[in-house]
Formats: sequence, C-alpha cells, structure tokens
Amino acid sequence: TPDPIAFLRQQIRTVPDWPEPGVQFRDITPLLANPRAFRVLIDQFVHRYFDLRPDAIAGLDARGFIIGSVLAYELNVGFVPIRKKGKLPFTTVQETYELEYGSATVEMHTDAVKAGDRVLLIDDLIATGGTMMAGKRLLERLGAEVIEGAAIVDLPELGGSKRLREGGLKVFSLVAFE
Ligand code: PRP
Ligand code: HPA
Repeated sequence: TPDPIAFLRQQIRTVPDWPEPGVQFRDITPLLANPRAFRVLIDQFVHRYFDLRPDAIAGLDARGFIIGSVLAYELNVGFVPIRKKGKLPFTTVQETYELEYGSATVEMHTDAVKAGDRVLLIDDLIATGGTMMAGKRLLERLGAEVIEGAAIVDLPELGGSKRLREGGLKVFSLVAFE
C-alpha cells in the first residue's frame, strides 16, 4: 500500500444529515469490513505504539473497543473498557461531561489500572473531545499516566483535539476531515 493514510481515508464513508440535518457523519464500518484496510489500520497503530509499549490500552465505548482490543492483542498488553454508565458490574469511577444537548457519563472499574500504569487511550473519532477528556480524567483519578489519546479520525473544526492538547494530552490521529 503506497499511501496507507490516503487508502484508509478512502474507506471512510460520509453519511450526510445523520443523525440529524447538517451533520456529515464519518462512518468507519466500510474500513472495518475491508480486511486489507483493517490490517493497514491496525498496522499503523502497532507501528506507532510498539516502542512506546503502554502497560494497557483503554478503549472508549463502543467503537474504541473494536480497534483497541485488536491493538492490545497485537502489543500483548491488557485491554480496559471505558463504558457508558450502567454497564460495568464492579465498583467504578465515573465522569460526566457535556454534550451538545445534555450530558453523558462514562465509567471504568476501579481495579482496571494501577497507579503509575502508562495507558494508551483509544477511540475511533475525536469530535468535541469530551469523550476522550472524560476517559483521561478517569484514568488519572486512578493514578495512571495517559501516554497518548489515539483516534482514527479527527474532526479539527469541532476543536476537540485542540482542547485535548490544551488539557495536557498528546493526541494522535490518522485522518482528518474538515
Ligand atoms: C462517538 C465517537 C466517540 C465520540 C466522539 O461515539 O465514537 O466516542 O462520539 O465525540 P466527542 O469527541 O464529541 O466526545 P458515540 O457517543 O456516538 O457512541 P458509540 O461509539 O457507542 O456509537
Ligand atoms: N462519526 C462518528 N462518530 C461521531 C461523529 C462522526 O462524524 N461525530 C461525532 N461522533
């Protein structure tokens, strides 16, 4: 694959006016369904994180689970799910953040990481950055160090990656859409 990033970009479908008028939804399902593209995608992350060797990978519900778990397997590290409220059975820490309308809460098990662990946080996409920032706060409340926040797609016009960087998180993404 001569230009892997251009190739990956071609596999992301734009759905106009979903979930509401005016939104151009960037849909990664064609990328996941294409075995060559899925491999190119994971290889990009393996290449970046092999030497950084996180102690664990934390994936954000739900699409962060798809790539985060495969990456964790490849790097031979554990996988930690950060879930939407009400799904995790053991004791949890919670963070609530603002959405365009209303708010959302995410949770993580209190024993999911240990103080001092170097954790990679991953999701499919950064829009306003609220989800990833909440994940960072959860991990830091348990004393972990978030070495980077990774995503396939960044939507820079929504300001999320900028906000995350200003909040002290390194951010890595493969593809940007205006
Ligand atoms: C989407 C996306 C990110 C988040 C990005 O998830 O997968 O997790 O929104 O938005 P933000 O940067 O503004 O926080 P969604 O809430 O649609 O959940 P899903 O993965 O369960 O579909
Ligand atoms: N695609 C996927 N998830 C999203 C998007 C998008 O365009 N915007 C906010 N979350």
